[in-house]
Amino acid sequence: MKRTEIKSLLELRDFGSEVIVKGWVRTKRGSKNVAFIALNDGSTINNVQIVVDVDDNTADVLDCIHTGAAISVSGKLVESSGSGQSVEVHADTIDVLGIANPDEYPLQPKKHSLEFLREKAHLRYRTNTFSAIARIRHKMIFAIHKFFNDRGFYNIHSPIITGSDAEGAGEMFQVTTLPLDNVPKNEDGEVDFGNDFFGKAANLTVSGQLEAELAALALSKVYTFGPTFRAENSNTTRHLAEFWMIEPEFAFGDIIDDMDLAEDMLKYVIEYALENCKDDLSFLSKRQADEEKNKKAEERSMELIEKLKFVINQPFERLTYTEAIDILRNSKPNKKKRFQYVIEGWGADLQSEHERYLVEKHFKKPVILTDYPASIKAFYMKQNDDGKTVRAMDILFPQIGEIIGGSQREEDYDKLHKRIKEMDIPEEEIWWYMETRKFGTVPHAGFGLGFERLILFLTGMGNIRDVIPFPRTPMNLEF
Ligand code: 4AD
Ligand code: MG
Repeated sequence: MKRTEIKSLLELRDFGSEVIVKGWVRTKRGSKNVAFIALNDGSTINNVQIVVDVDDNTADVLDCIHTGAAISVSGKLVESSGSGQSVEVHADTIDVLGIANPDEYPLQPKKHSLEFLREKAHLRYRTNTFSAIARIRHKMIFAIHKFFNDRGFYNIHSPIITGSDAEGAGEMFQVTTLPLDNVPKNEDGEVDFGNDFFGKAANLTVSGQLEAELAALALSKVYTFGPTFRAENSNTTRHLAEFWMIEPEFAFGDIIDDMDLAEDMLKYVIEYALENCKDDLSFLSKRQADEEKNKKAEERSMELIEKLKFVINQPFERLTYTEAIDILRNSKPNKKKRFQYVIEGWGADLQSEHERYLVEKHFKKPVILTDYPASIKAFYMKQNDDGKTVRAMDILFPQIGEIIGGSQREEDYDKLHKRIKEMDIPEEEIWWYMETRKFGTVPHAGFGLGFERLILFLTGMGNIRDVIPFPRTPMNLEF
């Protein structure tokens, strides 16, 4: 007989039928005569209750069963008399597939801190919180592919090892096979990358955008969904050194089309989560409420599901960077110098405290800021006629700050060429990118969504390290 997964089993109603169920023990409790095992196999957040009559046959096997053990149970499906679920399994036989010594197994049937669980990342999938997040991650990957596929976008694999710095921020991890204890140097004392694996310097990519642009200028509508790497030393709750980014890029469109696409996509995937991740979201909602019990009422976040509905039910606020600076300059926290970075004037880069002020306090909804100063944005953004700003757009979310960064791209060869000169970007690194502006150039635009920031928002978790299975952050590379 085949195993029934717990998700399907909990929906069965043919009481009395024989079933086999396998999973990991969450808890075992009971009395002299009867034992109750809560079993979970990851197919759902819900456990199935296994009821075992304690007799000569089962006593020994029950002795080997502790939290974390893997077991296989065959028995009868029975209507449950307990509250919370409609079915349970009365065991006929139980096999222990893998024991978990309670003196060694670190996860106990009690609440563990997230910090503790980060040190046990190899086992934290076995908790409700982390299995819920894993299932939601999967559903969101699927929803994103579905969103773009349904709209005729082609998924492009952009390279992971590159020779260029797409964002020009110089925050790259170098890839090399040169011996670090004896690096070959040229006559000028510089590292001789001619002897390196690729015959030139190589890095892990910070973005798939430049390659996506090449594809968009032939296929019209494309997107990448890949790992990206940033060696920025930011130890915050919103930065990872390795994260996943979704980057759509489309030809024959401008920044308005870009904002519309981004807003539609965010609303679509949030709606998809509300429809398809109900059990996991209600668990995470209770978890968040529990975490915030001791906070003052005004410091608590909105209830998770209410927050998700709130975001999809209204248009995002759209305004320019210049308008935002005016609001921030006149804001209470700025005047009272309560911002860590006080906004002095036009040109300042916005910090997450400013972004969150605009979203959470001023507009009380997601915000799209456009037309940033060229000086704080990447070289490829389309230059506005004012000579100061570029056609950038960032989407700011409650609790997160920037969730999406995008722009219309500079399609004019001469303007782009002038800009890369000003910014000292080596032409020999991006000659291929420049050629697209020589041959059949057209207006085009795109954006990047940080996948983990999306998951952070959807799950109500407070730290990005908890929404990716194995976070990579400065001084942290366990597992
Ligand atoms: O704003 P960014 O740097 O934009 C780009 O990389 C463009 N090439 C995108 C494009 O236009 N195709 O990054 C895009 C998004 C950010 O808005 C943020 O959500 C996320 O990527 N992100 C990070 N997420 C986690 N950890 C980090 N260190 C991140 N840096 C950026
Ligand atoms: Mg950005």
